[in-house]
Amino acid sequence: MTDDDKRAAALAAVEEVKSGMLIGLGTGSTAAFAIGRLGELVRAGLKIRAVATSLRTESMARMAGITLVDFATVDSVDLTIDGADEIDERLFAIKGAGGAMLREKIVAAASRRMIVIADSSKRVDRVGKAKLPVEVLPFARGFVATRLADLGAKTALRAERSDQGNIIIDAFFAEMPDPCALAMGLSAIPGVLGHGLFLDEVDCAYIGGGGRVIRLDR
Ligand code: 5RP
Repeated sequence: MTDDDKRAAALAAVEEVKSGMLIGLGTGSTAAFAIGRLGELVRAGLKIRAVATSLRTESMARMAGITLVDFATVDSVDLTIDGADEIDERLFAIKGAGGAMLREKIVAAASRRMIVIADSSKRVDRVGKAKLPVEVLPFARGFVATRLADLGAKTALRAERSDQGNIIIDAFFAEMPDPCALAMGLSAIPGVLGHGLFLDEVDCAYIGGGGRVIRLDR
């Protein structure tokens, strides 16, 4: 059961949260289980503050009674818990199906520790099958789409904008033999503001499946 697996992974990660921590709250259905559990713990006396990686997460955290801090005033985060669309043994991940990958990457980069939580359908041998979301300055839409095609991608423009008001282009690659080179290539395109390849950020993953949770460490 996917929801049970997501919940189990989320609860395992929340075990790492300690009073006094500043927590990065991820976005998506798996992260929502972690936010719900943190809300329960806060009501039971856990003292944490949090930063949100999206507007959806912000309102979920408020409803759960979690104290939020403006990320603009923060220089580091103790622990971030977030979902993923693909995760492999190297702890390379693809994120951003929910369109929040730019804020998610900034918060992950600011974090002393970042945990991915996922059900086992997200675990892959090598990342590269999922669509790779790219956040783009609207001004640069046509130029970036052409550069993505030059890198070998088929592209699709999403109807919804990101929380920042930027456009999101989903890039589909037939294969991704060298994610590090691809990430550098994407970052080098003027007008690309962020993308969903997380290659350095993830320290640990909790994967729920078949009634148990396995942990992958970097
Ligand atoms: C949002 C994300 C999500 O964490 C990712 O899409 C996983 O979502 P879910 O837990 O709903 O499968 O990267 O930008």
